[in-house]
Amino acid sequence: MAISFKKKHTPNSPSTSLQDMLAIAVKHHQAENFDEAITIYLKLLAHAPDSPEINYLYGHALIARKNDGDIESSLPYLETAAQTLNNQSPVMLALAESLMLNKKFHLANEALSKAEALGASAETCEKCRKYITQATMEHTIQERYLSSGSYVAPEFYLDFPDTLSETCFYQTLEESLSQPITDHRIFIGDNLIALSRTLSFLDDAKLVESFQKHTETAAEKATLWRVAVLLWGARQGLNLPGDFVECGCYRGISARIICDVLNFKQQEQRQYYLYDLFEHSDQETTHHAMPAHSSTLVNEVRQRFADMKNAQIIQGRVPDSLHDNMPEKIAFLHIDLNNVAAELGALELLFERLSPGGIMILDDYGWQPYMQQRLQEEPWLLARGHYVLELPTGQGMVIKH
Ligand SMILES: C[S@@+](CC[C@H](N)C(=O)[O-])C[C@H]1O[C@@H](n2cnc3c(N)ncnc32)[C@H](O)[C@@H]1O
Repeated sequence: MAISFKKKHTPNSPSTSLQDMLAIAVKHHQAENFDEAITIYLKLLAHAPDSPEINYLYGHALIARKNDGDIESSLPYLETAAQTLNNQSPVMLALAESLMLNKKFHLANEALSKAEALGASAETCEKCRKYITQATMEHTIQERYLSSGSYVAPEFYLDFPDTLSETCFYQTLEESLSQPITDHRIFIGDNLIALSRTLSFLDDAKLVESFQKHTETAAEKATLWRVAVLLWGARQGLNLPGDFVECGCYRGISARIICDVLNFKQQEQRQYYLYDLFEHSDQETTHHAMPAHSSTLVNEVRQRFADMKNAQIIQGRVPDSLHDNMPEKIAFLHIDLNNVAAELGALELLFERLSPGGIMILDDYGWQPYMQQRLQEEPWLLARGHYVLELPTGQGMVIKH
């Protein structure tokens, strides 16, 4: 894109250095050093506030950086750029993205159609349209249902096998949402949408309070129903002899919520055993590292349970780490290692110790990406006379007999 500064200038006038500054800004922009690029674009805009090209570049960099306020700020610049550069598909695409992020969905679709007509790649346009459709639905859902005491995770992601099933899904959802609002609740999050359910766990004030306190990321905030299932299993365990166990506690969030709600620190005769690697070395191949894995995570988890003498945080590889430190009797067992071999190893050692009537929750059991867990754990349990109930959350539940 050719960029000119409209001021008149002679050779060696400021325009030369402005063009140099622009080249440096574009280099930063391309290298995704958005802070640097944005600082220079702002200086350039002070000299040439009407330059459509710099308005475009600045707006584009703001969308890419996404600091607080960037999304709102990007829109007037991209609108200015699009007034002149309305024959350039990248400009119309950036405008569509900014409009979408600013929740102006109808205009976003219009800008996208223009970009498409100007020759933007079909693949990019399809991707953008998908984002716009999803953002529109998320917005509609949040607006209409949050007020009815429903649960909508801050961001939700849905994986569809193909575009056709995705389109059908959104059409059906749109039809359902266009019905008059009743007082029924919906749950959306964690790849789960449930309409017209009572969602009684939302009425558990202690659970909701502790969940809000301990969850931080959008992914964690989506898991309320899973945590409610765990809490139910743990509650059953309070009537049985034995300790509580979680294999794969990661940041200790779900266990901490259970402890808060059940006041587990008063259960002085019981221990809560929490196992994890906490840190993933480069050679780690059995489980992918997650954002919080680090040399400090184990201490962060210890800190989370600092007020509980009966929490045991054990760092090491399951099942090896179980041999050194494992309860005799278990009243509640949660296995969440995302690693079939380690989970089977844990089952071999722990399942026979689970008290009759005790609940075992196998996280991710029904999730397609972790299909191997079901394929191997189901026959293992069947051979011991136990059936796994696959729950809508994707967890598997077993009642020990
Ligand atoms: C999905 S996370 C667990 C999330 C956690 N249960 C919760 O509710 O927040 C899976 C955890 O399993 C741990 N993990 C995987 N393989 C392991 C192994 N063989 N031994 C110990 N921990 C393991 C990982 O380090 C990771 O922190």
